[in-house]
Amino acid sequence: MRVLVTGGAGFIGSNLVDALVARDHDVVVLDDLTTGYAENVHPDARLVVADVADAEAVAAAAAGAETVFHLAASRAVLRSVQQPLATDRTNTAGTLTVLEAARQAGARRVISTSSSSVYGGVAPTPTPETAPVHPRSPYAVSKLAGEHYARVYWELHGLETVALRLFNVFGPRQRPDSAYAAVIPLFVDALRSGDAPEVHGDGLQSRDFTYIDDTVAGYLAAAAAPAERCAGKVYNIAGGAEHSLLDLLDALQRILGTAIAPLHTDPRPGDVRRSCADATAARQDLEWSARVGFEDGLERTVAWFTR
Ligand SMILES: NC(=O)c1ccc[n+]([C@@H]2O[C@H](COP(=O)([O-])OP(=O)(O)OC[C@H]3O[C@@H](n4cnc5c(N)ncnc54)[C@H](O)[C@@H]3O)[C@@H](O)[C@H]2O)c1
Repeated sequence: MRVLVTGGAGFIGSNLVDALVARDHDVVVLDDLTTGYAENVHPDARLVVADVADAEAVAAAAAGAETVFHLAASRAVLRSVQQPLATDRTNTAGTLTVLEAARQAGARRVISTSSSSVYGGVAPTPTPETAPVHPRSPYAVSKLAGEHYARVYWELHGLETVALRLFNVFGPRQRPDSAYAAVIPLFVDALRSGDAPEVHGDGLQSRDFTYIDDTVAGYLAAAAAPAERCAGKVYNIAGGAEHSLLDLLDALQRILGTAIAPLHTDPRPGDVRRSCADATAARQDLEWSARVGFEDGLERTVAWFTR
């Protein structure tokens, strides 16, 4: 089966591409390489370097695709505050461009990528998809807009769309060397270099960390589930457990054999205090649940960094 993966040169997308190639799919990747890397892309996939908001390029890449996995995005929350228009073009217009290209190409299904950030920390944890949303950044607004566009394409055009709200994904290929890097690669990098890891605030803020293999399995499950169960819907894809940043740091210190005191800096404005998903809907409708435990996932991640 021909599939298109937007953002397939990035952390999550390239891991998904590996899984799709391993299942003998004919994979086209569309990515502009802003935060992705050509060397991440499996050699058996075809890489098209283009902007996801470029309608012509996306239409050409989508030709013949039965399923489209849409992951391309500007994913840095802080960047979205600094450059809201650029983020909106990539994330909101980009998602609409992908949906329209998929519709015109006659694709059957589009799996699009949303984020736990749409909840904005107002709902009780564990948070089901039915909880009220309260996006607190242009990034989160763009992700929520993308969810609505996906649902509208199902309701208006019968394009089977499924949106996945991802929660703090981690694992191999997630990089520490960007201004907007995620916490796990930053902690691992600091501990390995003997530096104090920087913790914003008291470190008791919690996250629902999800190992990459589980996230990839979530995309595959969303592509395979019967349309009558999942089309037009949104699902939390998450490990389903809550860990504070200090818990995370302790676990990494145990794995790496270090004992370095963190450097506590000012809390980040707008930082969500607690984040933990209720992933019951994905279990029921997609027959998906997370399988890799937190410590197991961290051990695999550290093994990749120290390979
Ligand atoms: N990593 C997480 O914890 C997490 C959590 C929630 C949601 N997400 C979402 O998952 C998706 C993948 O994120 P990731 O963590 O792999 O980040 P990433 O930055 O590694 O991947 C994003 C990819 O999109 C590409 N891209 C960016 N702008 C583009 C554009 N204008 N045109 C074409 N390609 C473009 C980048 O080059 C990159 O390869 C994103 O949609 C992100 O918002 C990630």
